[in-house]
Amino acid sequence: MTVHFIGAGPGAPDLLTLRGRDLIAACPVCLYAGSLVPEGVLAHCPPGARIVNTAPLSLEEIIAEIGAAHAEGKDVARLHSGDLSIWSAMGEQLRRLRALGIPFTVTPGVPSFSAAAAALEAELTLPGLAQSVVLTRTPGRASAMPDGEKLAAFAATGAVLAIHLSIHLLDKVVAELTPHYGAGCPVAIVWRASWPDQRIIRATLATLEGAVGSEMERTALILVGKTLGAAEFDESRLYAADYDRRYRPVGAEPRYPEAP
Ligand SMILES: C[S@@+](CC[C@H](N)C(=O)[O-])C[C@H]1O[C@@H](n2cnc3c(N)ncnc32)[C@H](O)[C@@H]1O
Repeated sequence: MTVHFIGAGPGAPDLLTLRGRDLIAACPVCLYAGSLVPEGVLAHCPPGARIVNTAPLSLEEIIAEIGAAHAEGKDVARLHSGDLSIWSAMGEQLRRLRALGIPFTVTPGVPSFSAAAAALEAELTLPGLAQSVVLTRTPGRASAMPDGEKLAAFAATGAVLAIHLSIHLLDKVVAELTPHYGAGCPVAIVWRASWPDQRIIRATLATLEGAVGSEMERTALILVGKTLGAAEFDESRLYAADYDRRYRPVGAEPRYPEAP
């Protein structure tokens, strides 16, 4: 018996990996994390599967569900939205399973920041403008932030910020970032990226607050940085005609003469 942790993606059911789909289809028990996991993903569960929404359960109750499946020798598909490596609460479940000696696997998913960037048709790391993306959040009731992880500290680097779990604190986000990026810095809000009702707002730090309606609560990402919507940026040297590289040797003395 194995518990398969599976990143269920940002919302669109076809943004699930093939491995994730096949594991879901093979597990007689499916535990999924609330409304962010779409019905279309749950549709891969086999007929008669036990399907449990864990949103109203405590950690102990979730582990009890897994323990019951373990006792019956039934594999479990454990679904969390997006990818499992960020804000999934997988860490604490794995710690319990290790202590109990229950085997598990981890299958990644498409994270919401990738789906949001795709919705914006954006490369977040454009040469000459920004080469780093910070996945972050503001403090919440369930999770405090470590002292050093202030928005202002990240903003001081000029990196693109993908701010999760913070749409309800837009005024604070704008106030904290404006001194670093400037009022004209581009911002995009992507609400429910990849869901059928996805919405996008493009603004600047100065105009953002007036542009966001109160209906855009919860499932939204705030992206801030110079690369958003930028038309003026350097081209990567990678595809430059005179750039000598392993797969395209160039010049009289290429660096990789034996390249294919
Ligand atoms: C608990 S975190 C889960 C993050 C998830 N593990 C991931 O990989 O993106 C939930 C937050 O992720 C963001 N989020 C998740 N799905 C989203 C989507 N489809 N569109 C926009 N933001 C999303 C929102 O900021 C939301 O408050």
